[in-house]
Amino acid sequence: MSNIIAGHLSSSIDSAVSELRSGNLVAIPTETVYGLAAIASNRLAISKIFSLKGRPTNHPLILHIAEIGDLEVWAKNISTSAMNLAKTFWPGPLTLVLDRTSKVSVEVTGGRETVAIRCPSHPVTRELLKKLSDAVVAPSANRFGRVSPTCAQHVLDDLGVDAPLILDGGECTIGLESTIIDCSSEPFQLLRSGAITASQIWDACEIKIIAGSGDSRASGMLNKHYAPRCRVVLVDDLLSAQKTRNSLSTGHTNVRILEAQDDLVTYAHSLYASLRQADIDEVDVLIAVRSPQSGLGIAINERLEKAANSAD
Ligand code: TXA
Ligand code: MG
Repeated sequence: MSNIIAGHLSSSIDSAVSELRSGNLVAIPTETVYGLAAIASNRLAISKIFSLKGRPTNHPLILHIAEIGDLEVWAKNISTSAMNLAKTFWPGPLTLVLDRTSKVSVEVTGGRETVAIRCPSHPVTRELLKKLSDAVVAPSANRFGRVSPTCAQHVLDDLGVDAPLILDGGECTIGLESTIIDCSSEPFQLLRSGAITASQIWDACEIKIIAGSGDSRASGMLNKHYAPRCRVVLVDDLLSAQKTRNSLSTGHTNVRILEAQDDLVTYAHSLYASLRQADIDEVDVLIAVRSPQSGLGIAINERLEKAANSAD
């Protein structure tokens, strides 16, 4: 059966459930980016994620659960503050790193005593998880180090003939990966910026989140992430972008400017598609304008910095 539907876009949640139960991978839509999912209780299926992505096996995966009530199956020693975050922001684009229970297999955490968990809000994946009656683990559905997919076609473009069944849930509304907070010790640390910001967390829960120690526990912290093939140069405003373009546009260099959008939601939503499009159009240098360093702009700038670093 998997040979018939693998690599095809589908809207059938039932087919996705049966693929996962058979130990196969399925690309799933979330509100952040598409994920490459395996059923959390199947270690062999989990190992397929690493080989398909080309991801080192010590890079831990995020567990996706159907509802907050499932949290204690996978995590223990959950502090009142961590529970408060889950209750306030789930379902939604927030991942919590917590002490793991023995139910979490070693393949998921890369041998760590902690596990990253989130409860996604995309209605298709919520229904999938409810029907499955199990959790899935899912990294972004791209080859390791590349730009995360924000629509079903991106997954197919990236994984090609190796693509599993792709459950098509339309374009991801947010377009950037979830915020990751390490709640395994106090004070909580921000490991990856996303649509939920430290200041929103403070406003809603009065929990202080400090900057992560930058020890690359989150693979998104590595330089080689969110990378298009073209060179990315960062500037602060459009005028600098135009000056940089003029200085580079001699010869046959194909230079493009990626303008910052005043509406940060729109900028985040379209950012990865713009990076992909630059490669499709064989752009040599993409000059990207930074966002203001607040709100969603923090996450946008973090991804732009990684994209720029990776070209070195
Ligand atoms: O929005 C998202 O989070 C997407 C969608 C598909 O849910 N998933 C995603 O997964 O971005 P991935 O594998 O691309 O990124 C997972 C991040 C990595 O940076 C990984 O190092 C970090 O989560 N992570 C997982 N477990 C961890 C742990 N125990 N401690 C610290 N970081 C962890
Ligand atoms: Mg990723």
